[in-house]
Amino acid sequence: MVQISPSILSADFARLAEEAERVGGADGADWLHVDVMDNHFVPNLTLGVPVVEALSKATGTPLDCHLMIEEPDRWAPQFVEAGAGSVTFHAEAAAAPVRLAREIRAKGARASMALKPATPIEPYEDLLPELDMLLVMTVEPGFGGQAFLDIMLPKIRRTRQLIDRHGLQMWLQVDGGVSAETIERCAEAGADVFVAGSAVYGTDDPAAAVRALRHQASDAAARAGTR
Ligand code: DX5
Ligand code: ZN
Repeated sequence: MVQISPSILSADFARLAEEAERVGGADGADWLHVDVMDNHFVPNLTLGVPVVEALSKATGTPLDCHLMIEEPDRWAPQFVEAGAGSVTFHAEAAAAPVRLAREIRAKGARASMALKPATPIEPYEDLLPELDMLLVMTVEPGFGGQAFLDIMLPKIRRTRQLIDRHGLQMWLQVDGGVSAETIERCAEAGADVFVAGSAVYGTDDPAAAVRALRHQASDAAARAGTR
């Protein structure tokens, strides 16, 4: 099933509760994507545990926290306690990804691992059963509004094949440059959870953008027979 996770990185940080509301509701976003950056793992600084805690109380939409931080082993569990429904750590930053994924699950959230563009999926094949979602970055992490990297499509395809070969139910998320121009390619390649920042919050009607993206992705997946 196709899911849309609008990134609040492109929203108005002074009005986060209202911005969450703009994509909420029956036909709205499945998740709110929250980009946590520490100015070390990526060259940008955003928000942390207290903001996630406040936002989770202010919205009924579950939070999909993407941790672009060093030492996720130390920090990720706090984001679960703050109310995140899904917590994604980066493979490049985690010291003990299996232990960390188990801890996130034990605390009650979905455990997810992200790969930067130059990180291959193959070394992580045996870890997949420990995860609820795999995030293939389709830009270098750090900023919204960057151009989609088409060269990531083969990795999305290979990841989908691995998931299917192992008979896993886990989700495959894409993040970075996902828009009306690129979402069909991602869906055809086998992605099923789509993060979109500027393509949602950069428009006058974010709720309509979410609906349009979901339709496009669902149709493309049906055509390709991927979902
Ligand atoms: C980038 C972040 C993304 C970002 C996507 O490092 O992880 O979630 O908000 O923004 P767009 O959709 O504008 O590329
Ligand atoms: Zn993100």
